[in-house]
Amino acid sequence: MCGLFGTRGHPEVASSVIKGLQDLSYRGYDSWGIALQSGQELHVVRDIGLVPESPQLPTISSSLAIGHTRWSTHGEPTIANAHPHTSVDGKIAVVHNGIINNYQSLKDSLPHISFKSDTDTEVVAHLLDEACKGGLSLTEALRQVASRLSGRFALLVIDSRDDCLLAYRQGSPVVAGTDGTRQWIASDTFALSRCCEEGIYLEDEQLLVADATGMHLYNGSGESIPIHAEPISSQSSAHKKEGYDHFMRQEMDEQAAVIHRTTQAWDREQPLLPMPFVQNLKRIIILGCGTSWHAGLVAEYWLENLAKIPVEVEYASEFRYRDPLIYSNDCIIAISQSGETADTNAAVSVAKEKGATVIALCNTPGSTLTRMADTVCPTHAGMEIGVASTKAFTTQLTVLYQIALWLAERKNLLNSNSCDEKHLALRQVPEAVKKALKADSEIKAIAADYQHHNNALYLGRGLHFPIALEGALKLKEVSYVHAEGYPAAEMKHGPIALIDEEMPVVVIAIQDHTYEKVLANIAEIKARRGKVIAIGLAGDEHLRSQCDHMIAVPALPTELLPFVTVVPLQLLAYHIAVYRDCNIDKPRNLAKSVTVE
Ligand code: F6R
Repeated sequence: MCGLFGTRGHPEVASSVIKGLQDLSYRGYDSWGIALQSGQELHVVRDIGLVPESPQLPTISSSLAIGHTRWSTHGEPTIANAHPHTSVDGKIAVVHNGIINNYQSLKDSLPHISFKSDTDTEVVAHLLDEACKGGLSLTEALRQVASRLSGRFALLVIDSRDDCLLAYRQGSPVVAGTDGTRQWIASDTFALSRCCEEGIYLEDEQLLVADATGMHLYNGSGESIPIHAEPISSQSSAHKKEGYDHFMRQEMDEQAAVIHRTTQAWDREQPLLPMPFVQNLKRIIILGCGTSWHAGLVAEYWLENLAKIPVEVEYASEFRYRDPLIYSNDCIIAISQSGETADTNAAVSVAKEKGATVIALCNTPGSTLTRMADTVCPTHAGMEIGVASTKAFTTQLTVLYQIALWLAERKNLLNSNSCDEKHLALRQVPEAVKKALKADSEIKAIAADYQHHNNALYLGRGLHFPIALEGALKLKEVSYVHAEGYPAAEMKHGPIALIDEEMPVVVIAIQDHTYEKVLANIAEIKARRGKVIAIGLAGDEHLRSQCDHMIAVPALPTELLPFVTVVPLQLLAYHIAVYRDCNIDKPRNLAKSVTVE
């Protein structure tokens, strides 16, 4: 995790780094720091918490600086553990994203140094210092030290005696840009987009040097290699809370528009996969984490029912470590909002090494995942700032449904008329989502009643089981209430023991083929005095009579109902979290992009 930002060659380096770190705070926000070079000295400022709007910085002139916003891995979020970390003489400063797996043995090789932090990063500053004292240039020292580090990481380095900014990538993203004289290096293009129009994406084992002569790129053997810059789109304008108290709430309201945009952007004729591959396609493996994994679970139903292709949905983190069997006629669909989730990207690498074809569903153009995939299907959610994913999830569903239709049509399982009808039905979703959002004040009132409960159970069946998981995840993340999602029928196999008058149970009870069974589950909960909040179709008065509260969602074709059943669960989590006075957009211990395994 963590965000890195460095810049050189202009007098506004301090404010540029601070703005960059603010843009990168979605990657971690428990502490931050900056190192400014001035008059052969480094001035380091570090603090705990989020990067402030206008931090107190020394009034010095500087044209070289690096900064960091942290999500703790090794060592608590304290000032001592905040980056930048420096060599003993304070001449070399390092910021780091990722994990250095062998940091302990490297630390043990420096018994004469008294370490000031518990981080895996500080050792890099000391190793660089030793290498430079041994006669190496800073660039050669970084190349050699980096080759001794194991793990996935990105580093930015400066030295008080050199007017140059160094970056190294091994698994964690680094992108650089220049306007000829000024140079910037960051963890993502979002932070860079306010500075320059083109980005240089580093590959693994590449080292970039920015100095007064320009940018220079080197491979792992230290050979100079050509620089290739790509256009980056400006994304900063999306970064405003338009009259809302929280981004999460704003992003829920944006769902109708972004689902619409995602359907508009879909090209039904696109060559998603080569036709011979589709004809031999035997299995789809969907990879993702958290909310993205939940979207995959919904898609499993669509892909199996519409395209008749067996689907396995896997936690990316588990997939990669169990030596999975992958065949040349398997297709991987990797789902990620950020495109920088370490577990997902590592799982995709494993799949690619074994010869799989990879489709990436991603909301972040230019991210690592999009650069690894054979085909990219963008989700057009726009920048999602709230750490708890809402609009990214529903746009993922939109693309996944369209992929299922694409495959069904290519396999002649849907003729073009039926396919047209299904695409038309999908176009009704934005209006239905808008209607579902109108239950806001009713849900707020329910949230007021349940704000003090510390546990909740979420139940659903079929397509709505993943939605129950998603509802429980939303509540956990933003309100710190313990919540679990279960397939409704599983309740009697254990979780029913939890039910008493203190246990709210959110049940998705849609009039489909499992409806009667779900009603029976509701009766079982009521018989044990549990409190039932049901999500049902508008007009279902029988359901209303069976539960304590019912939140109605508008009708849609059955297979599209997850788009609307998730909305009240997002709102419920949000309002409970507001009542509990939680940090809605930046919940404790989380980060928007989980770039460590
Ligand atoms: C939940 C949430 C996380 C992410 C997960 C994967 O609200 O945001 O569970 O879904 O960390 O992130 P991406 O989709 O960026 O790979």
